[in-house]
Amino acid sequence: MFQQSTFDFLEETVVLPKKAGLRLARAGTFTDNMSLPIHRWFRYSAGFSAEWVKRTILEQNLEPDDYVFDPFTGSGTTLLAAQSVGVNSAGTEYHPFICRIAKAKLSWNIPTERLFSDAEELLEKAKSILKAAPASESELIIKCYNPVALARLEALRDAYLDTYGATKNSNELLWLAITAILRECSGAGTAQWQYILPNKTKARVIDPFTAFMARIKLFCEDIQNTKRQRSIADTRLEFCDARDLNSLSSIKGRVKLVLTSPPYPNNYDYADATRLEMTFWGEIKGWGDLQKSVRHRLIRSCSQHSAAEKLVLGDLLADPAVRAIRHELTAVCTDLQDIRETKGGKKTYHTMVAAYFVDLAKTWQALLPLCTNDAAVCFVIGDSAPYGIHVPAERWLGELAVDAGFSSWTFEKIRDRNIKWKNRKHRVPLKEGYLWVKR
Ligand SMILES: C[S@@+](CC[C@H](N)C(=O)[O-])C[C@H]1O[C@@H](n2cnc3c(N)ncnc32)[C@H](O)[C@@H]1O
Repeated sequence: MFQQSTFDFLEETVVLPKKAGLRLARAGTFTDNMSLPIHRWFRYSAGFSAEWVKRTILEQNLEPDDYVFDPFTGSGTTLLAAQSVGVNSAGTEYHPFICRIAKAKLSWNIPTERLFSDAEELLEKAKSILKAAPASESELIIKCYNPVALARLEALRDAYLDTYGATKNSNELLWLAITAILRECSGAGTAQWQYILPNKTKARVIDPFTAFMARIKLFCEDIQNTKRQRSIADTRLEFCDARDLNSLSSIKGRVKLVLTSPPYPNNYDYADATRLEMTFWGEIKGWGDLQKSVRHRLIRSCSQHSAAEKLVLGDLLADPAVRAIRHELTAVCTDLQDIRETKGGKKTYHTMVAAYFVDLAKTWQALLPLCTNDAAVCFVIGDSAPYGIHVPAERWLGELAVDAGFSSWTFEKIRDRNIKWKNRKHRVPLKEGYLWVKR
């Protein structure tokens, strides 16, 4: 089954300011990272700009003992950017597959000769076990590849698993190289963000064996260039929930800057974003496994999540964490609950929105003790309008931060987003920008 329901919110046109504002407008996106060493090893469309992170860190005049922290690390942009300017950093990420990708990227500092010879050995092994026909029974995987390409990808995967087993940190860069070529070797189209559209086709498809070695060469080139430039700083990434940061006691009171982009309340399904990769590696059988293997850990920002948890609106609204916005949140969620009854899809946006703000309120509470007394926090955030009802995310998050003990907030818009609703009934102008919060 291929789920496209998540597109309801995402069929949007980004309105970029002309020329001068273009770079600023892209600060919230991953586009520019595709030309940056290491950042470009895996295309994570949910990511933000490393150059912007770097600039922002440098503007803060951090002391040698200070830390930059990213509670929603994703593919590791903040941590890699902090490392590149010699600043200590820490992060958490609770999507197991994305966390493994970020950890693999952060393990870049290895001898390239060894990586290259390991890759060549793996390729030889893959060639020796190559089967005439692919073995996959997954409908998504079969639709995404021609049989020759798929048999080769499976040979690379099986050679990897035979050699290194399922144990993590065995040879993570080889694992990352195989993972990172899965989309360029697929003949299926990709949608906005990173969903796969098996019914659409792409013009340019690369042979898996060629793509694998090309990816390894890219890794080696980047590692060599980076080794020449990079100074040493402490960098740590924990597989951990941003709503509960107690395990990070070693950086308590040492975070001078939080730079992050949390999920938005816009129905984007981070679990589904890696469905192709996780299915290929055998971590899930298909869409139905995503809730128990990934989604249940994450901030509740999509209706699949709130529906699966069978949330009760009254319980969410009664949560003390959202008391600062309870009045407005109740009005919006009640409207969403009413509108839902008039819609065929009966999406659970009402509980999604309420749960989202409960989760982010808990994140603010968890962040506070990590921060120094003069810390600054920047969330790259966008608002949303499920069923055409505006959810003022930046303002509510600012108010929740102050309620959690931070002192003040401001919002700086970086771009407008015009939503083209699937049903064309609602057009609510949306925006994306920086929510700055002071400790
Ligand atoms: C907008 S993305 C961040 C992307 C990142 N800035 C980058 O450049 O790669 C938000 C991330 O938050 C993660 N996330 C969601 N819920 C989380 C939670 N409870 N704890 C930690 N991370 C979570 C998602 O898996 C996703 O990778």
